[in-house]
Amino acid sequence: MRLRFKRRRFGQVAIASTLATMLESFRSKALAQSQPQSPSVQTPAISNVVDVKLRVNGVEHALKIEPRVTLLDALRERLDLTGSKKGCDHGQCGACTVLIDGRRVNSCLTFAIMHTDSEITTIEGLAKGDNLHPMQAAFVAHDGYQCGYCTPGQICSAVGLVNEGQAKSDDEIRELMSGNICRCGAYPNIVAAVRDVLGGKKDAAV
Ligand code: FES
Ligand code: FES
Repeated sequence: MRLRFKRRRFGQVAIASTLATMLESFRSKALAQSQPQSPSVQTPAISNVVDVKLRVNGVEHALKIEPRVTLLDALRERLDLTGSKKGCDHGQCGACTVLIDGRRVNSCLTFAIMHTDSEITTIEGLAKGDNLHPMQAAFVAHDGYQCGYCTPGQICSAVGLVNEGQAKSDDEIRELMSGNICRCGAYPNIVAAVRDVLGGKKDAAV
């Protein structure tokens, strides 16, 4: 009787042990499947760098960049022209506005490689030596800025607006400058500056 009991007890222990081993095996397999692949997958080396020539503020620059590099990043990160600001990087604030062949463009929304035949003007290229561009001088005269973060984009955009020749009233200035956001709310002074320059339009073209 006692021997039978021992055998039964031994059998129970053996089954429990087998079950535990099986469960552990299942658990290990499931864990292995849920883990990402081992780091043997290598990131491919960047190989699609291309030669790009950009003419900025009258100076030609030869760059080696990927085709996906925006004009804003090329200006700021490669040419050290940090006047153009990266506010939103999504075409919503206008802080990155530059002039391409005299037309205002959000440089965060266009690729540098698309402008190899263009004349690009940034805020750094508007003044002639010590002489401020008329739009820069008007912004100073009218206090058209507070923190100054949006100002390079505002000024380039305002120069583009004058080149377009469409704004005839303060309302039209406000409407045509609406792509340039000023978080400091310097709008009345900005409109006053643009209005002044529109009066002397010939001097303001780029
Ligand atoms: S950074 Fe280009 S529109 Fe805001
Ligand atoms: S002056 Fe500060 S955001 Fe326009």
